[in-house]
Amino acid sequence: GPNRAAPHDGAEFVVVANRLPVDKEILPDGTINWKRSPGGLVTALEPILRANTGAWVGWSGIPDSDDNPPDIEGIDIHAVPLSTQEIAEYYEGFSNATLWPLYHDVIVKPEYHREWWNTYVEVNRRFAEAASRAAGEGAVVWVQDYQLQLVPKMLRMLRPDVKIGFFLHIPFPPVELFMQMPWRTEIVEGLLGADLIGFHLPGGAQNFLFLARRLAGQATSKGTVGVRSRFGVVQVGFRTVRVGAFPISIDSGELAAKAKTKKIRDRAAEIRRELGNPKTIMLGIDRLDYTKGIDVRLKAISELLDEERLDASETVMIQLATPSRERVESYKRMRAGIEQLVGNINGNHSHTVSRPVVQYLHRPVPRDELIAFFVAADVMLVTPLRDGMNLVAKEYVACRSDLGGALVLSEFTGAAAELRSAYQANPYDLDGVKDAIEAAVNQSEHEGRRRMRALRRQVLTHDVDKWARSFLGTLSENSETELEPNRG
Ligand code: ADP
Ligand code: G6P
Repeated sequence: GPNRAAPHDGAEFVVVANRLPVDKEILPDGTINWKRSPGGLVTALEPILRANTGAWVGWSGIPDSDDNPPDIEGIDIHAVPLSTQEIAEYYEGFSNATLWPLYHDVIVKPEYHREWWNTYVEVNRRFAEAASRAAGEGAVVWVQDYQLQLVPKMLRMLRPDVKIGFFLHIPFPPVELFMQMPWRTEIVEGLLGADLIGFHLPGGAQNFLFLARRLAGQATSKGTVGVRSRFGVVQVGFRTVRVGAFPISIDSGELAAKAKTKKIRDRAAEIRRELGNPKTIMLGIDRLDYTKGIDVRLKAISELLDEERLDASETVMIQLATPSRERVESYKRMRAGIEQLVGNINGNHSHTVSRPVVQYLHRPVPRDELIAFFVAADVMLVTPLRDGMNLVAKEYVACRSDLGGALVLSEFTGAAAELRSAYQANPYDLDGVKDAIEAAVNQSEHEGRRRMRALRRQVLTHDVDKWARSFLGTLSENSETELEPNRG
């Protein structure tokens, strides 16, 4: 692991991610301030980055900028610049209009463009070179997510001395879908540059093992992969690559403590008053993305109101949606569709101008305010068509130490594998979603407490620190799994 003697120069532990853990802020007087971003990944890795000589390689989020944000206390920041054209082709294009829809069950049709691929290769090389410069002799380098799948192989060629981990934060698709990718072999080989490849679920790991055998012609283990156990193995020449399932989580303890404070509880009560003291507050919190099934929950609510299974005079639905990837065409279309649905429901069902049934905000909400919404919500609606994990579901559970509230959860999230006591539904089965919402709205207090207690046991004992430690612990062990040769 990263706990070794200090190297001659360079970091002992390097994180490589598309985004840096800082956000640029321009203050009213025009001065520039870099704020540490509140992401879960930074929170989880900060102690490890600090305890060792830590570095983070990533893009600042600003086009055509050579700015290097200042180091965060104890973490060296290495900014990778991206030009406007690279943002269009590598980030909006190949990452978010090719890989993102392909890996999320082709909910939207993936676009395959050779220029986008070429730019993806070039930008991945730039990240690999920056990582190579940041890493000291024998460092541990942890590469994150679908934007950087070629970095493991590129970095290994530059720096055979470093230990390389890769974690995919989104689903790894079924083999039949992955086979569409014109550069499928390059991607599998890119990932195989790592010593350990992590997925959220055993199913993703198994899809990858099959492809390593089929596309890269490598010998692989055949047994089922476990959760943080029974790792798969791919033999690449003399190297052994391990493949495992490591479901990510949140800083549950910190969130639970925060949600209990008087400040947050008062604000939650105030939110309910501001909404006119409805009997039921329903809540959705997402990046505005077509994978999140925001349309699914709105259609379900609309029909439940039509059928008078929900009472418009005592129900409020709050949808908080962070703007995301706004220049990508499929995101523009989806936004228009959702805003139309919100307008339809309010036009048809709101009784007074002062109290629309659906309250919709298209902007990021400050962290404390978000927590107050979680505490205020009677029913949390998490209905993605596909989601690697879905941290919002876990955040809601962590916030409910009062054992109040109910979670409606899509079966097609990674979180569904862990949150068995949620009201689960297939998001493609609208009647099933409606039944789940109705059951959650009408649950008895006893039933609600029973379910929430079980959900909390899972979320509080499996936090993001456990995730990072189990991945990095596995990366630093040696493999012992038996291999079966590839027979084609
Ligand atoms: P994804 O990574 O696909 O956006 P997750 O649910 O795994 O989805 O993580 C989203 C994170 O962003 C969560 O920590 C959540 O609290 C935060 N978030 C989502 N929507 C908002 C919003 N409207 N305002 C502020 N934070 C948000
Ligand atoms: C998902 C991805 C992350 C990404 C985040 C926000 O969680 O797995 O890699 O950073 O969405 O998306 P953005 O495109 O704004 O970075």
